[in-house]
Amino acid sequence: MWSSSVTTGAELSIAGITAKTLAKEFGTPTFFIDEADFRERARAWDKALKDAFGSHAGTVYYASKAFICTEVARWIKEIGIGIDVSTGGEMAVALAGSIDPSKIEVHGNNKSLGEIEKAISVGVEAIVIDSLYEIERVAEAAKKAGKVQRVLLRITPGIQAHTHESIATAHEDVKFGFSIASGSAWNAITQVRTHSSLELRGFHAHIGSQILETESFEISAQRLVALLAKYRDEYSVELPELDLGGGYGIAYLPGEVNLDPASTMKALAEVVSTQCAAHKLSIPRISIEPGRAIVGPTMFTLYEVGTVKDVTLENGANRRYVSVDGGMSDNLRPALYDAQYFAALANRTSSAPKISSRIVGKHCETGDILIREIELESDIVPGDLLATPATGAYGRSMATNYNHVPRPPVIAVKDGKARVILRRETEADLLGLDI
Ligand code: LLP
Repeated sequence: MWSSSVTTGAELSIAGITAKTLAKEFGTPTFFIDEADFRERARAWDKALKDAFGSHAGTVYYASKAFICTEVARWIKEIGIGIDVSTGGEMAVALAGSIDPSKIEVHGNNKSLGEIEKAISVGVEAIVIDSLYEIERVAEAAKKAGKVQRVLLRITPGIQAHTHESIATAHEDVKFGFSIASGSAWNAITQVRTHSSLELRGFHAHIGSQILETESFEISAQRLVALLAKYRDEYSVELPELDLGGGYGIAYLPGEVNLDPASTMKALAEVVSTQCAAHKLSIPRISIEPGRAIVGPTMFTLYEVGTVKDVTLENGANRRYVSVDGGMSDNLRPALYDAQYFAALANRTSSAPKISSRIVGKHCETGDILIREIELESDIVPGDLLATPATGAYGRSMATNYNHVPRPPVIAVKDGKARVILRRETEADLLGLDI
């Protein structure tokens, strides 16, 4: 839930700096990222992939949609893993962070021609193709550039992953990928093979996000291996790669635990090797794309309480509304996915009895609820600080300017030092777009 350099209990601190000091220097609301923890998690997934798959280990592509800025792209480069980008914007940040294009994989269900041409011209490792139209577009663009582009096909393995509907991606009724069951995957395979400007390297599947059991990943891997076998049976040649996607879940609430990299990769490696043996296939190069599992637990958001209001409900009960200075613009996940979060009083300790409270933001919207129900110290007053853990993934990256609220900054904290890596938006930034 909290990153490794955070201590709670007394006044909350990260890498030895107290929340009060941080709020004073950087203001609120603000995201704080634990740099050492980020590097540690990225390395842990890299090591887990290598330990489990040995010489068959491919690349850990960090899913940049979870959170990216140029400085984090530099960390990715230093750590030596790859990056998955799903838009031209994410690719631009990766390139600004000097990530080697051979470590970039390009996703998206509707890549623009400009995005495709850019990916081909910088020489990305692979483009993951999502539709029949895109096969033609990538083939044409590669031909025009005089290149042979490495591609993977995004496959829908037909799995109902255990997660919120909006972040499940591998059942049949979704916009992503080519379904195995309907035959559309096979159509795509035959179509790709007609283009000499495309080199089909293998298959990709991403079954969904915030998945906390390994079974769905295992079924997906099993179906992809079966498709590799079908390909070999048909064409007498083996495709060398599988990308098993991301989706590894993390803890948001006390008592929850992150999916463990080592045991998750071990479970996948067992399935892949058993299935390959059963189909008499050599084991392909296996890559993965964790986003949330790397960045999610590394950040917390610090808010300042602005008002506390007790509301009498129709049944006579009392509900305490604690309003903070951010809200659905910096954390859309509760409104979008009913995601649950935890918050802790961060600037002091309190032995006051706890009271059932609702934490809300400052937006003009009833649904601007960050935490629907939480036991909070009853003496919380305006000026107190609240910290919400595990906001690293999709918090800042899905932040909006709703109500013309400037988006919060991201501050990296390491070894007792804090520095801005993404500055706070200002009203001037917002007005800068107006004509
Ligand atoms: N690879 C592909 C192709 C993806 O589409 C995604 C996420 C990932 C990797 C990384 O998934 P992760 O390891 O982070 O779960 N906004 C939602 C999550 C949407 C994820 C979309 N794709 C949320 O806040 O929960």
